[in-house]
Amino acid sequence: MAGQKERTHVREQEPEPAGFYENFLEYLKIIRDRTELPHVTKSSDVPWQVGRNGKSKYYSTPLKPDAVLPDRLVFRKTIEDRNGRHTHQGSLVILGLKGSGETLVDDVRHPWGPEDLIILPIKPGGIEHQHFNMRGPDDPAEWIAFIHVPYLEELGAELTKNEVYKEWQEKHSHMMSADDFEEYDDHYDLFLDFDYADWADYTPPETTNSLYDDLVVLRNNYRKMVAQAQGAGNWAVIRGEDLEYEINPQGKMKWYLHPSFEDRSMRSLLFYIQEIPPGSRSGKQHRQGGLVHYIMGGKGHTIIDGARYPDGPKRLEWEAEDYMAIPLSPEGCQFQHFNDDPENPAKMVVTEPSHGYELGWLDLGCGFEQLENCPEYDALDDSEKSTAI
Ligand SMILES: [Fe+2]
Repeated sequence: MAGQKERTHVREQEPEPAGFYENFLEYLKIIRDRTELPHVTKSSDVPWQVGRNGKSKYYSTPLKPDAVLPDRLVFRKTIEDRNGRHTHQGSLVILGLKGSGETLVDDVRHPWGPEDLIILPIKPGGIEHQHFNMRGPDDPAEWIAFIHVPYLEELGAELTKNEVYKEWQEKHSHMMSADDFEEYDDHYDLFLDFDYADWADYTPPETTNSLYDDLVVLRNNYRKMVAQAQGAGNWAVIRGEDLEYEINPQGKMKWYLHPSFEDRSMRSLLFYIQEIPPGSRSGKQHRQGGLVHYIMGGKGHTIIDGARYPDGPKRLEWEAEDYMAIPLSPEGCQFQHFNDDPENPAKMVVTEPSHGYELGWLDLGCGFEQLENCPEYDALDDSEKSTAI
């Protein structure tokens, strides 16, 4: 009897499970608290690692516990001869950093060099690709990839391996028998022979008879846009030297991907290089966050402030080859970049997902405001300044 009594007592003490709503509140807090994680990842703190597809340095991944934006996969790759070859969906970009490379995109090899942007477009059936160094092993080519992981998840998140990186294969021959990649059954693939080029001359009907038809026209117009980018040579590589810098309130920028462009094979990201002249600074913006930066050259710092920085503005030091992410916070944050070198420019790559009408463009949940202009913009003639307010 005594034992039974004790068991009853224990049962009464068991707390009720918190339930989903409470757990969800905790989950949202974990996301908000990412503002407390380090925003800058020093290149010197990230080791090179040899993997099945090549030699890489991972700055941000969905599996990294201290990633400020864990939905961004950002990594550098050095290529001495050739990478592995594999197939997965596009929606991602790769910026050439060093040397001279070529990238196979489906059946065609595309040359690239520093500041050229390799695009892997979304394509029904995915994109097969492989990267090559066009110089000797003593002069490797190098690039950095920017992937918005939720897009890959939405697109099915499959990766099939077609050729393994030689160095990894030599070291891991004991693992090569493991079938880590699912066998691909093309019996179900409607799009094995899909070719955007077939849509280059598509003309939408003058009228449609249903809203459903309108959706089909939207689909076809997208196919036509990609086909035309392919025809214009913008399918897989955007050459940095073909782009001109503009001076706008936030700074000196050259744009690779922008929602206004209709001659690109991809619209899922904003992508630009920003140069800050010696000793100068960017403008100051109020944004939700969600931007990532890779420092291509120079050294400086960023001041970030907002409701999630209770100790006041935070100073983020950076130099060449570092990575910096601006976390997402409900009220947004304010940030401004400073070039601390009085002799040399600082240069950074900036990218973020391209949100459209669906999320209110740049306003998102906190508004988008220019709080201060960069000095180069203030020095412009009035005729060259913004016409948009
Ligand atoms: Fe890939």
